[in-house]
Amino acid sequence: MEVLGAGIVGLTVAEELARRGHAVTVVDPRPARGASYAAAGMLSPAAEVWYGEEDLLRLGLASLDLWPDLAARLGVALRSEGTLLVGHDAGDLQQVERQAALLARHGRDVVALDRAAVRQAEPALGRVAGGALLPGEASVDPRAVCAALLERVPVGEAASGADVTVVATGAHLPEPWTGLVSGVRGEVLRLRSDDPPQRTVRGWVAGEPVYLVPRGDGRVVLGATSERHDAPPVLTAGGTLRLLDAGRRLWPALDRAELVEGTARDRPATADGLPLVGPSGVADVVLAAGHGRHGVLLAPLTARLVADHLETGRVDPVLDPRRAMEGAR
Ligand code: GLY
Repeated sequence: MEVLGAGIVGLTVAEELARRGHAVTVVDPRPARGASYAAAGMLSPAAEVWYGEEDLLRLGLASLDLWPDLAARLGVALRSEGTLLVGHDAGDLQQVERQAALLARHGRDVVALDRAAVRQAEPALGRVAGGALLPGEASVDPRAVCAALLERVPVGEAASGADVTVVATGAHLPEPWTGLVSGVRGEVLRLRSDDPPQRTVRGWVAGEPVYLVPRGDGRVVLGATSERHDAPPVLTAGGTLRLLDAGRRLWPALDRAELVEGTARDRPATADGLPLVGPSGVADVVLAAGHGRHGVLLAPLTARLVADHLETGRVDPVLDPRRAMEGAR
């Protein structure tokens, strides 16, 4: 078997196939340098969904459950301090409250926090209007995850005559699937601070969404812009400015932080916001693509679904790529 694409999805699929005893090679000219290289690594099924995305919530929760085993197998840290939603001003707090109401309706644990409780939970934050804690959410360092996966699965040349091909090439699918996924540029900054937040913070600042994902050693990822476009993803001055401005209003210590790196990559977005996992319409070619904002979170579930599909023919109807092809005809 061959997997096209050595991002976190392709590599996790390959690792799962290898674990089940299949001979597998991953093919990618630049392994782990696509969207996974930019990703902050939020394992935040609740903090990253919105009204109408209940399927994503279900899938994200199922995949979050698989992460502790995957992280342990790979020997990478999984931080599970939860996610703090925060609103900078009263309008932003309404956004937090709407999201908390959606999650409560779906039976998720949401702990409402007033301004003082937010400061108590995260002393590094500045003055905010209030927030909510989502316990149980987590984060990983996607670069560490990909490095560990690359030690476990062979990356090589395209295998001529491979019995099965899994296409996991992120925002750039080959023909005839190219049009099923489009790029949504995300710009992120990497910082180093002596006063980082302790857990993932997902905030709104005057309507601008922003997140901070700490690694526990002073490193913090600040993200992310979100912009549909056709041009190659580049880090823009405007995107950087917006991130820094929103980030420092939530987290004043940002001013003193070392700005280590800026990265821009395309998230692979589908028309209906759900990934494409399963039959491609071409014999012996399976898609594992279109994960949008959720590639890191959904990687282990995708790996399981792809391996199950190849072994049993089973397909999750919500993710079946043929829905998108029918729509395109
Ligand atoms: N899941 C974070 C992002 O896509 O920016």
